[in-house]
Amino acid sequence: MYAKDYHDLGTPAAHGQSVTLDIDGATVTVPAGTSIMRAAALADRDVPKLCATDTLKHFGSCRVCLVEIEGRKGFPASCTTEVAAGMKVRTQSEALAKMRRGVLELYVSEHPMGSCPDSSRCELETLAGEHGITQSRFGGPKTARAHTHQPVDASNPYFRFDNDLCIVCSRCVRACEETQGTFALTIEGRGLESRVSASQNQPFLESECVSCGACIEACPTGALMEKSLLTAGLPQQAVTTTCAYCGVGCSLVAEVTDGAVSRMVPNRDGRANQGHACVKGRFAYGYATHADRVTKPLIRKSITDEWTEVSWDEAINYAASEFKRIQARYGKDSVGGITSSRCTNEETFLVQKLVRAAFGTNNVDTCARVCHSPTGYGLKHTMGESAGTQEFVSVQHADVIVVIGASPTEAHPVFASQMKRRLRAGAKLIVVDPRAIPLVKSPHVEADYHLRLLPGTNVAVINALAHVVVTEGLTKDDYIAERCERESYEKWKKFVADPINSPEAMEPITGVKAELVRGAARLYAKGPNGAIYYGLGVTEHSQGSTMVMGIANLAMATGNLGREGVGVSPLRGQNNVQGSCDMGSFPHEFSGYRHVSDDSVRATFEAMWKVPLSPEQGLRIPNMFEAALDGSFRGMYIQGEDLAQSDPNTSHVTAALSALECLVIQDIFHNETAKFAHVFLPGTSFLEKDGTFTNAERRISRVRKVIEPLCGYADWEVTMRLSNALGYPMNYRHPSEIMDEIAALTPTFTGVSYEKIDRLGSIQWPCNDQAPAGTPTMHVGTFVRGKGKFYVTAYVPTHERTTSKYPLLLTTGRILSQYNVGAQTRRTPNLAWHSEDRLEIHPHDAEARGIEHGDWVGVTSRAGDTVLRVEITERVAPGVVYTTFHFPESGANLITTDNSDWATNCPEYKVTAVQVVKVAQPAAWQQRRQAAKPASPRKRRAPMDNPA
Ligand code: SF4
Ligand code: SF4
Ligand code: SF4
Ligand code: FES
Repeated sequence: MYAKDYHDLGTPAAHGQSVTLDIDGATVTVPAGTSIMRAAALADRDVPKLCATDTLKHFGSCRVCLVEIEGRKGFPASCTTEVAAGMKVRTQSEALAKMRRGVLELYVSEHPMGSCPDSSRCELETLAGEHGITQSRFGGPKTARAHTHQPVDASNPYFRFDNDLCIVCSRCVRACEETQGTFALTIEGRGLESRVSASQNQPFLESECVSCGACIEACPTGALMEKSLLTAGLPQQAVTTTCAYCGVGCSLVAEVTDGAVSRMVPNRDGRANQGHACVKGRFAYGYATHADRVTKPLIRKSITDEWTEVSWDEAINYAASEFKRIQARYGKDSVGGITSSRCTNEETFLVQKLVRAAFGTNNVDTCARVCHSPTGYGLKHTMGESAGTQEFVSVQHADVIVVIGASPTEAHPVFASQMKRRLRAGAKLIVVDPRAIPLVKSPHVEADYHLRLLPGTNVAVINALAHVVVTEGLTKDDYIAERCERESYEKWKKFVADPINSPEAMEPITGVKAELVRGAARLYAKGPNGAIYYGLGVTEHSQGSTMVMGIANLAMATGNLGREGVGVSPLRGQNNVQGSCDMGSFPHEFSGYRHVSDDSVRATFEAMWKVPLSPEQGLRIPNMFEAALDGSFRGMYIQGEDLAQSDPNTSHVTAALSALECLVIQDIFHNETAKFAHVFLPGTSFLEKDGTFTNAERRISRVRKVIEPLCGYADWEVTMRLSNALGYPMNYRHPSEIMDEIAALTPTFTGVSYEKIDRLGSIQWPCNDQAPAGTPTMHVGTFVRGKGKFYVTAYVPTHERTTSKYPLLLTTGRILSQYNVGAQTRRTPNLAWHSEDRLEIHPHDAEARGIEHGDWVGVTSRAGDTVLRVEITERVAPGVVYTTFHFPESGANLITTDNSDWATNCPEYKVTAVQVVKVAQPAAWQQRRQAAKPASPRKRRAPMDNPA
């Protein structure tokens, strides 16, 4: 369905008791509070409209939607008038038609017929045409346009604003407020002079606009329009798919013109995003066809050789022969594979199957190791399931929202907009973060408490919050008695009640004033509905798993689990972090989080896969690096992951990768890891394949092929060919068959199939006989593990401490316009907003070092050093510095250390002791990198010596 074909009901849904009325002789029953406009549209008696759209509250300015109501004088606007029982409405009459024509003619005088670049998408021109209007009687030099003519604002890389086409309906202004929550737009001036203005009458690019596109989606004319539409013709095809950036998992509709995506629009029926998107998903898809794409397989014998283009057969056979050779010489466990949270569930499942069944080892891990592995550990131990408890809409029922170690407006923007809507409606906000994230204070949103803790002291803060809850009698004792293990609770209660965990005792450690901790604890506990959302600022610590358990403890003790409006929700960074974990990517677990040592589980996989499987846990990523360095691990297959850029302590990682005899990379671009590879298998973007992603709400959504794979094969097909070349047969004809196998082997996926996803739109697992339509809220009535289990979470300071040599604490994060290591977004016009990573430093720390805004600074840690440009800001506290990590030339991971979570080895990215000094220029290697061309040089095909 094209976006403009969507049946817009005019005003949002209401939820009152049923009311029955008569519209044009038809009996219509709708919830009380519904507008006449919506009721009429639901009965297929659509009333003309211009200023109304069903994603926004009614406004009532255009007056084209007038109707007649029996027994009432005048002609009320149907968008602002609510239905009433027994009401009789007429939507069509001579008088109404005459009035509508008059109003439309006035609009057409401001916006002549045919003036939109694409009149078929213009609601005004369509409506005027339907009313027989070809031109206006009111046109002339004294119209508003003559007064307000402005040049077209084309500053934004993706869309432009043409004031001459604007009918000042305010839909864009309201979309920016209600849908996006940015408040970047206003209507400036009065009467004929009124016009849309961005921020302080600035070009869009320089304004507060975050380029989400909600205003374009709302605009009924071509005044706000994607630049891509100015050149593309009408779409010939529209494909509903799922965004491949963050864990919100927005449903998008890709419109295709002449075989290329002409625009991407948010799917109004998307359950996760409800018709909204952000600058990445909506606009930054151009990387998929970027000239840097590698589309031909490459091989080389040594990493010092040049690459050679070869056929698929040759590349696959070479990779397989190398893996076989290595295993024959060094043993079965000398090889392994890495799955990617960017790939589909089906692709991930196949890679781990290849490692377990074709390689015959459990040496498989996933990039989720370095982000949310502590989430799996902490939530599984306390509640019995390794996933978030809520669906996103649950936040609309929260009274108190707690955001810990996450910046939703940057990393999960569409969910942030939903959260901000709830906050504007009155929910309270507690932010626990070393940095003043944008949510702390933004238009119409302000945190009630910002617990600005020192990096590395999360567990001390969560224990202090729990201390207040327990010692001030704020626990939900009935809930605990009914739903949790008594013994574990008593032990935990005694532990947190100890004065050593009081906010006062913890204040010198955390840097957070005790009274703020006490206030925040009371606010959360009294809710009545308290919802916790957290991110990598929780997990990427030496006590990441402890902190996740601490959060779960607090939620259980306050009864904040098992219903809407509450819960513990990890905000997953990449699109398919949840899915990659679910699919059995960890070395100790099959899909559905079942241990490889469990004989009965292993037996079901062995029966299906027809091969004996190892009961021994395999190597995690850091163990693979260690084993590579000690010589026992020699071959690796990495799908869609850039370990050399994304993993900590780069020099350690690259030393390990250099030690491998065969590194096979499957990716869409040459990346840092490919520098150490022997075989490069071209990958496919999300636009080029079928499959599914699972978002942070456990929602499984379809990824649908929009264009043909540039390299000829989808990633799952390449894995399958590699497996066949290794001698373990795989014969899937379509990813739906892989999903059928997943469903057959995974209890939480038993009821999942492509047919069902297509029918329901999306499904939240568990989906099985007990929950055939999926499970929006987890742990209702009882926890998955039976009784909730409390864990004692003693605070253990990280080894990474400040000293006189390294006096500052570095923490890291993301920015809205860029994504992760930037491989995709750096190849899009998103560079207009963020073209380099900067080091944020507090004015006091900058002054003490003689550093000024924009200076280059050397950042040195115990692991290494790099150079960044500086930004002086009070967003960070004194003693703390912060950077993003989207550009390889920033070398952020050169300075992060080997410290990791005690339970899962998730790296401690968020705490690195550093020194910062002013320097003259970037390091020599950074200058070389910036000067270098992005694509790797390679020669045309020349057969390798005996590649088999
Ligand atoms: S693109 Fe989004 S943020 Fe920018 S003006 Fe439009 S609605 Fe507001
Ligand atoms: S830009 Fe579009 S949505 Fe905004 S006021 Fe003008 S016509 Fe209405
Ligand atoms: S990046 Fe995230 S929030 Fe933005 S469109 Fe994609 S899934 Fe939605
Ligand atoms: S649509 Fe009702 S007044 Fe504009």
